[in-house]
Amino acid sequence: MKIGVLKEVVVDEHRVALTPDAVKPLVKAGNELLIEAGAGVAAFISDTDYQQAGAKIVTAAAALAADVVVKFHKPTAGEIDQLREGAVLVAFLYAAANPDLVEKLASRKITALSMDAIPRISRAQSLDALSSQANVAGYKAVLLAAAALPKFLPMMTTAAGTIRPAKVLILGAGVAGLQAIATARRLGAVVWAYDVRAAVKEQIESLGAKFLELEIGTKDAEGAGGYAKELSPEAKQKQQEQLGQKTKDFDVVITTALIPGRPAPRLVTKETVAGMRPGSVIVDLAAETGGNCELTEPGQTVVKHGVTIIGPVNLPATLAVHASQLYAKNVTELLKLLITKDGKLNLDFNDEIIKGACITHAGQKLKA
Ligand code: NAI
Repeated sequence: MKIGVLKEVVVDEHRVALTPDAVKPLVKAGNELLIEAGAGVAAFISDTDYQQAGAKIVTAAAALAADVVVKFHKPTAGEIDQLREGAVLVAFLYAAANPDLVEKLASRKITALSMDAIPRISRAQSLDALSSQANVAGYKAVLLAAAALPKFLPMMTTAAGTIRPAKVLILGAGVAGLQAIATARRLGAVVWAYDVRAAVKEQIESLGAKFLELEIGTKDAEGAGGYAKELSPEAKQKQQEQLGQKTKDFDVVITTALIPGRPAPRLVTKETVAGMRPGSVIVDLAAETGGNCELTEPGQTVVKHGVTIIGPVNLPATLAVHASQLYAKNVTELLKLLITKDGKLNLDFNDEIIKGACITHAGQKLKA
């Protein structure tokens, strides 16, 4: 099987979909790895590194002509035109948000597997690219907050006096939130966290943080697949009001609340920001889907009422080395399901991972 890897063309994207460590076993299994020249440079991987792992360095056109093409971001229209009819494409495709892309992939008879559509089930954990990248984002969010905060995070006992540790509040304790808790704890902050799913209380506490209890009239808002359900308008209002009171005590608020397929839940209103201490910092990981904070501007850092509000949009790209390594592992595990030991394509639509991830096949749109 010929497997093509492209250089990402999105601005400020530094990650690459397969690393040399992931290339080696694929070559050993008899596949031909075609890497676009310079594909790994922004992640500090040279063409020579790939060649030493057994790959060939080729033009973009040659990588696009492979049997299986792997990327991070959705392909451009020009790239889709160069894919071979019947080829397999693996990337973050976000089918629901990109109907034109799905249409074009179907019309070119591409078998498109979307990494954001891998089901969050136990068997698919090693393929879960949304989680591997959210983990990176949760870590980096704390570093951004620490850099913007005009205070130390840890307690410090010095000859010039003792500094009390900063207080950090994490809203939403899924993948990114739990990593943010762990990172803020490692940096010595006092950490509290809140989520609408009751099951995460134990996980929050096991990381050494305290669970923030709110009285919103709903004990547990866990829905299908372990994700949160949308709250009633009354519960939302109670949540906003109570968070308005609680956030006053915190130096840093990191928001990571997500309900799949919905705009980001609004947790922090402009009144809440106005009530926070000047110098405090909010990092809103949901900036791209509307923001958990009303005053977030995606891709920007703004100061409102003396509070710095950071709305990062592609944090995993800023840790390109490890984000690439983790994604490469996710992609490799998917390729293991797709390619048989004797190098044949095996599209098993009875496998719930393949069925969940496949958005177009043989000219058909399978999702959205
Ligand atoms: P996740 O689904 O694992 O976690 C989201 C958490 O939010 C869940 O625990 C859920 O119960 C909770 N939640 C939902 N509604 C809530 C509410 N009203 N109040 C409190 N908690 C609520 O999602 P994951 O993978 O951790 O991603 C978190 C966010 O980070 C998403 O918005 C995702 O798009 C974003 N993200 C941003 C990146 C960036 O560079 N800015 C990179 C990666 C992810």
